[in-house]
Amino acid sequence: MLTGKKILIAISGSIAAYKIILLTRLLVKAGATVKIVMTPSATQFVSPLVLSTLSKNPVLKEFMTEDSWANHVQLGRWADLMVVAPLSCNTLAKMASGICDNLVLAVYLSATCKVLCAPAMDADMWHHPSTQENISRIRAYGNQVLDVEAGELASGLVGEGRMAEPEVILNAIIANLRSTELKNKSILITAGPTQEAIDPVRFIANHSTGKMGVALAEAFYLRGATVTLIAGPGSVLPKFSEITIQSVVSAQQMYEAALEAFPKADIAVLAAAVADYTPVMAAPQKIKKKEATFPLKLQKTKDILKKLGELKTGQLLIGFALETSNALSNARQKLIDKNADFIVLNSMEDTGAGFGYDTNQVTVLGKDGTTTESSLDSKAAIADFILDTVLH
Ligand code: CTP
Repeated sequence: MLTGKKILIAISGSIAAYKIILLTRLLVKAGATVKIVMTPSATQFVSPLVLSTLSKNPVLKEFMTEDSWANHVQLGRWADLMVVAPLSCNTLAKMASGICDNLVLAVYLSATCKVLCAPAMDADMWHHPSTQENISRIRAYGNQVLDVEAGELASGLVGEGRMAEPEVILNAIIANLRSTELKNKSILITAGPTQEAIDPVRFIANHSTGKMGVALAEAFYLRGATVTLIAGPGSVLPKFSEITIQSVVSAQQMYEAALEAFPKADIAVLAAAVADYTPVMAAPQKIKKKEATFPLKLQKTKDILKKLGELKTGQLLIGFALETSNALSNARQKLIDKNADFIVLNSMEDTGAGFGYDTNQVTVLGKDGTTTESSLDSKAAIADFILDTVLH
């Protein structure tokens, strides 16, 4: 995900520095080249030896060693992204006022790339007006500052000031380095199940977890698009906060949300497992179990994909088909009936594919008659496969 990307981590003095060990591992695992610079006090919180071993690069702490000079300008220009984490109160204040009394600050001032900061400090320090003013100042200089988290702090106090977790920092790094392939494109995605109320406590639903739709939302986002996800109840959620989420419960609500968003979309992918039938009327009170049998009258829900197929004015429209028999011919019929440009066929017959799995295997059918099969892979890789197939 970060193959070929160059990340420069600058560590300042805070207990949270130990979390950079995990961040370094995550970055290297994601394919990034990692270099690390530290303030003198940061070395008291985490061992440079551990960090140099994990990053596979020497950790720099001083302008000069016995026989060499750390070229801060070169480092600042080398990186695709500089990450100041943890950002201590002291380093923050120096960054806000342009002080340059250690290597981290010299590299920061020389950096030509974007700088992402993850502050960490005690709650009272965090809420101090000077800290908040310094945060506003470094933001105004164009740096990105991640939110601090609330919880137990090293001082024993409970409050705001904890550094964002390594996974959160990793996601912010990935988001910063996303491609621009689909810049200015708006994507609409439906995901997850719908719930159709029988009475105030019961409903009809299905096994969908929304994982495939969310993987698609993330894949589009990572290619630079603006993404709106209409998510059914209980659907997993995307890891990038910039993806707009609209939560809905019923098929009718999903229909209304999709119709409203569709005119602004360039591409719509309907990955939701929408209920095909809904109770004619939801009982206003809990239904008591009086009778031996209980007839439930259902009526068809509105078909969102079909409706968007009627309304489309140049949007690329992609639907899914979940089949248990005659998969290819049923899917091709859906493509025609619903006026879609592509149908992604999920076959329940394939092991490792379908509801709840982290893997999937699909066949993408195009309206031009093409049929492209994927291998069994993670849902993230399948999402990329689908994008590659429908965009090229
Ligand atoms: N779909 C939809 N609205 C519905 C039902 C389905 O938008 N009320 C969409 C799904 O999101 C999917 C496609 O239609 O993109 C096909 O869904 P699927 O459940 O495979 O087929 P159905 O059209 O529901 O037909 P059937 O259940 O008879 O196979």
